Amino acid sequence: MADSFYVTTPIYYVNDVPHLGHAYTTIAADVLARYHRSAGRRTRFLTGTDEHGQKIFKAARAQGVTPLELADRVVERFRALWQKLDIDYDDFIRTTEPRHQQVVQRLFRRVQERGDIYLGHYQGLYCTGCEEYYTEAQAEQGRCPIHKQPLEKLREESYFFRMSRYAEPLRRHIEAHPEFIQPEIRRNEILGFLREDLRDLSISRTSFDWGVPVPGDERHVVYVWFDALSNYISALGWDGSDDGGELFAGFWPALHLIGKDILRFHAVYWPTFLLSAGLPLPRTVFAHGWWTVEGEKMSKSLRNVVEPNALVDTYGVDAVRYFLLREVPFGLDGDFSHRALIGRLNAELANDLGNLLRRTVSMVSKYCAGRTPRPGARRPLEQRLLELAERVVRESAARLEGCHFHKSLASIWELVRAGNRYLDEAAPWTLNKNGQQQQLDTVMAHAMETLRHIAVLVWPFMPGTAAGMLAQLGLQADEHNLSRATLADWPGLASGQRVQPGPPLFPRIDKDQAAEIDRRFRGDDAAAGGETRPRPAAAGQPGPGADSEADMETITIEQFGQVELRVGLVKAAERVKKSDKLIVLQVDLGEAEPRQVVAGIGLAYTPEQLLGKKLAVVANLKPVKLMGVESRGMILAAGPGGDNVVLAEFAGDVQPGESIH
Ligand code: MSP
Repeated sequence: MADSFYVTTPIYYVNDVPHLGHAYTTIAADVLARYHRSAGRRTRFLTGTDEHGQKIFKAARAQGVTPLELADRVVERFRALWQKLDIDYDDFIRTTEPRHQQVVQRLFRRVQERGDIYLGHYQGLYCTGCEEYYTEAQAEQGRCPIHKQPLEKLREESYFFRMSRYAEPLRRHIEAHPEFIQPEIRRNEILGFLREDLRDLSISRTSFDWGVPVPGDERHVVYVWFDALSNYISALGWDGSDDGGELFAGFWPALHLIGKDILRFHAVYWPTFLLSAGLPLPRTVFAHGWWTVEGEKMSKSLRNVVEPNALVDTYGVDAVRYFLLREVPFGLDGDFSHRALIGRLNAELANDLGNLLRRTVSMVSKYCAGRTPRPGARRPLEQRLLELAERVVRESAARLEGCHFHKSLASIWELVRAGNRYLDEAAPWTLNKNGQQQQLDTVMAHAMETLRHIAVLVWPFMPGTAAGMLAQLGLQADEHNLSRATLADWPGLASGQRVQPGPPLFPRIDKDQAAEIDRRFRGDDAAAGGETRPRPAAAGQPGPGADSEADMETITIEQFGQVELRVGLVKAAERVKKSDKLIVLQVDLGEAEPRQVVAGIGLAYTPEQLLGKKLAVVANLKPVKLMGVESRGMILAAGPGGDNVVLAEFAGDVQPGESIH
């Protein structure tokens, strides 16, 4: 292991608010960074945002703001989420920052000096969702194979990168470095891709100007992927000198964590740019799988996008961090479901871990006057526990270093379960009854030592939990006590410290609460309206984070005409019983009787605020029941959900029932 460690996440597009997929990679990177820091390595963790390109430009235009205004707003959403998820990054790069743009131009010039850039024409089928051209063969009936939206035929003057020149050197590098592309299946995918003819790559655009100008030819902007990928070295201040500058020399090459959909950009384009520039290739590109949600693809049009803030509010940050990394092997696809999360929270966090801490601290309070006892001689029972702990320390570290998060946690849980078993077998309550204080002290000291080990081991995954555990054991959660160096000692706990019994680490979620959560999240899905998913996004009606055009398919005017939109005047409103979110409205749609509509806007509005409002209502939706209350329509609103929802309403003189077109 080198003495420094550099981990990156993809930089996220700012046309969209953060979702589960973004949170997943960023949590994984945070866990690795924390682990390496706690192992005493010089560590750098980079994340950031990708702010250029046509996709962002179009999304900003659709919202009537400038691209930078859009970026400034969305960046705050990312930063706030990272804070909420306890993400401790060292640097956050935005591609609109001058420090980044300089490096993009520097890299472009370097590649140009190597004779690897020439001017030509590009003609092809372009997808703005991917910011990528496709060939006729790749397109599926003229549509993007990933986004399924129609491809645009474009012909433009373009600078090309001689990628073809680097196919063979890259292939050799992959063959010689099995750790370069992981997991294995992705490595094979790229080797397969390289067996086909690697074509030169168009790396500039003239059709829009939201990007970094090509040095020396300002009619062009640098292709967004060339721009974006450079972030990994611009954030290190790569200065083009022999050693690249202090940070670059100290941290490059990186471990890039990415999703499998952006593998080719990271495992072919980026390394060939670097080969041309004469720079070392990334240490590893690790591509994780994709999350589905309750068995369905997560997509804005199905309105099932999992909003990480809501998850944290419901389960707490550490349960979310734990679940995402424990549930699915990194590299494979996985399914998110509340049932699975609650199952793990109850069994593994509340029962296994929470109980071990609670039992131990309460028995030390009772049997040892609330202070860490001094252990006597080890018996085989203690010796076995200690040996297991040593193995778990080694094994969980090796697994984490290989990005096998779920296995690393499984290994730590071996120790958690062994701790509980140890207490059952050593039976401190019997020792207490029999007045065997010395043995009792030995047992409780070993149980506490097991917990101290577990706290240090789980810290990268669940920093708050680890700190809470140490506090209950009577230790400060400081850098020293959380460092892995302390794991060389058994026992490492000084005796005589006062334990601090505290609240349960993870309160269990019972059946009723689980049912309520389920209802709440289903209500969430209908944040701006009354029915449940699946349902295609109505034109102009953003779902959670649907403020980009990228994923929306087009519809004809006839299809739009099938949606009956009318002005509705709110005559009455009250909360649906036992729901924070749902409000039942009586809306005058110019019909004989007011219509009853249920809307998930109760965190953003009080019923009183709604009275007298003239709203946009979808009048011909099939009725549905929400928490037992019938809804016969849907009101339109914008915003990501929760308390951040704004209703579409009419300020001028319109009559209830008037049609909206
Ligand atoms: N801006 C580019 C990356 C440039 S890196 C130099 C980009 N941004 S993104 O915001 O669209 O996506 C970022 C990441 O989210 C990707 O790694 C992608 O795999 C991940 N995910 C998007 N949906 C996902 C799931 N449903 N599940 C897991 N990850 C997913 O691409």
